Amino acid sequence: MKDFIRDIPKAELHVHIEGTLEPELMFSIARRNDISLPFDSVEAAREAYQFQDLQSFLNIYYAGANVLQTERDFYELTRAYLEKAVRQNVRYTEIFFDPQTHTDRGISFETVFKGIDRALSEAKTDLNISSRLILCFLRHLSEEAAMETLERAIPYRDRIVAVGLDSSELGHPPEKFKTVFDRARRHGFLTVAHAGEEGPPEYIKQALDILKVSRIDHGVRCLEDEKLVDRLRIEQIPLTVCPLSNVKLRVFDRIEHHNLKKLLDRGLCVTVNSDDPAYFGGYVVENFEAIQMGLNLSRNEIVRLAKNSFVASFLSNDVKQKYLEELDDLTRDDL
Ligand code: ADE
Ligand code: ZN
Repeated sequence: MKDFIRDIPKAELHVHIEGTLEPELMFSIARRNDISLPFDSVEAAREAYQFQDLQSFLNIYYAGANVLQTERDFYELTRAYLEKAVRQNVRYTEIFFDPQTHTDRGISFETVFKGIDRALSEAKTDLNISSRLILCFLRHLSEEAAMETLERAIPYRDRIVAVGLDSSELGHPPEKFKTVFDRARRHGFLTVAHAGEEGPPEYIKQALDILKVSRIDHGVRCLEDEKLVDRLRIEQIPLTVCPLSNVKLRVFDRIEHHNLKKLLDRGLCVTVNSDDPAYFGGYVVENFEAIQMGLNLSRNEIVRLAKNSFVASFLSNDVKQKYLEELDDLTRDDL
């Protein structure tokens, strides 16, 4: 099963580029930029990655992101993620970035964007992995701040497929960002939002009705609302679920108690993703392995999850079809 999971083609739709910053790279960039870190060593950093909830993680995640200063830093960060993704047979990835985490420290939007974008363009040719970018607004900040960030992004609209919403969920409902999402859609951006990770099902409904999202990031709390589950199934709204993240941030106390199989059994379009792999103990393959073992998922269910990753993506229908056929060909003898 391990080889099978690694070898099938996959798309990743929920990964924060800042969350791929491994401690080794964090220390090397910190040295280069003469920045001090709140950890004494790589090992101490890994040991500090014990979280009580989303906020306790975000505090450490934002501290780590402080080392990123130059276009080269953002390039190296992105390149390292793409090299790992390719080794796991991720063919296509939609990557979140959080410009406000950097612009609030005086790093320009252009520095962040250009470093990431250069790595993505290069990897399309030399690593054979394609990707798109999703700009996330930090929901603990104001809508005005999100609007300023959107203005910075508009010139790069052809390189940024969608806008999203991340950071501290509780107390920051999707409706807070109605105006900026309306404006983003008018400029041709698709929309997604983190909702129902720690927040209630009501936030998922707001993301759908007010922000008009194409997908829900996480969404695992939808099961608390039967009518919402029916709607997600009928409309086939994808959920980008992140199993190891949910355990690390204590949304579920252990992987065996994760509700991913229930979501699948209810007919929802569920995908498996890594969220912040450097902090949560694994990339997309490790997430597939953990949830497969934890919930005893069958090969059929693994194939379904891999297919969903392409179905739920922002790829064109032609390209989606090509990947779905490849998965059918690869697995025909198994099924
Ligand atoms: N930013 C990075 N990871 C996140 C998560 N899991 N939820 C909300 N914001 C995030
Ligand atoms: Zn996330």
